[in-house]
Amino acid sequence: MNKLQGIDMAIGHYYKSREQISPDLIESIHYSFDAGGKRIRPLIMLEMLEGFGVELTDSHFEVAASVEMIHTGSLIHDDLPAMDDDDYRRGRLTNHKKFNEATAILAGDSLFLDPFGLIAGTNLSDCIKIKLISELSFASGTFGMVGGQMLDMKGEEAQLSLEQLQIIHANKTGKLLTFPFVASGIIAEQSEEVIADLRTIGELIGLAFQVRDDILDLTATFEEIGKTPQKDLLADKSTYPALLGLEKSQDILNDSLDKALAIFQKLQESQHFNPQRITEITERLRLNG
Ligand code: IPE
Ligand code: IPE
Ligand code: MG
Ligand code: MG
Ligand code: MG
Repeated sequence: MNKLQGIDMAIGHYYKSREQISPDLIESIHYSFDAGGKRIRPLIMLEMLEGFGVELTDSHFEVAASVEMIHTGSLIHDDLPAMDDDDYRRGRLTNHKKFNEATAILAGDSLFLDPFGLIAGTNLSDCIKIKLISELSFASGTFGMVGGQMLDMKGEEAQLSLEQLQIIHANKTGKLLTFPFVASGIIAEQSEEVIADLRTIGELIGLAFQVRDDILDLTATFEEIGKTPQKDLLADKSTYPALLGLEKSQDILNDSLDKALAIFQKLQESQHFNPQRITEITERLRLNG
């Protein structure tokens, strides 16, 4: 079983293991979750754990699935007519187009709430579970992704400064990408100092990831990204390329990745961390060759 299958099995088992209340809701959840996507957040967590020498168990796949569930819920809501109003996601119709708006809202609600029960039910120690639940709540809610989405929506009416845009990106995307790094440190029982380094890595890769998404909106095809290209351009949205141009945005993307890679090297020297696989994932985020 590879890691992607392990993630899918964890969510599949969660929704099969209890008495069903609404099969329609579960169908809508699976429609969006099973559409795939890059699964970068759960893969980062699993590769980081192995980098720290942790042998993977079902519980680790369940935590990995949890962050992917919140991410998928955020995409379903992000695509709603009241938000970005998108018709395609992950190469198929968006959830509200396939079903209806109410179903999409409720599928998102489920995907925001179920992960906390999933983590609580793992075999990890209570202390680790409380830390993970707390981190995931902060990364996802008012002080993370949802807060960032609110700033993003408000920002559509304004010309944003680079500083404002950075705060939006750090919250709407950066916090959920930071969770897998911090979670790996919590599970591998690393020191506060190492966890602080992991948080910095997550912030750097989180920023890089949204800058990359902004660049791809301009340069990629539907086949490459599985969603309608040039949506930001049409909406006249403040993005990194809109504010700084493509070349400078590429520089920021590469610079953030380089800074993260330097911290992986430091962890390799001080903590016997094996950075090989996470370095490969990080390198794949570059867009120029
Ligand atoms: C898209 O995320 C939305 C952002 C936060 C930039 P991903 O690029 O990870 O989307 P999937 O999961 O691969 O579909
Ligand atoms: C979305 O940013 C960030 C989320 C929290 C979902 P975007 O609106 O740029 O993501 P895409 O381009 O629709 O995937
Ligand atoms: Mg959006
Ligand atoms: Mg969007
Ligand atoms: Mg985008």
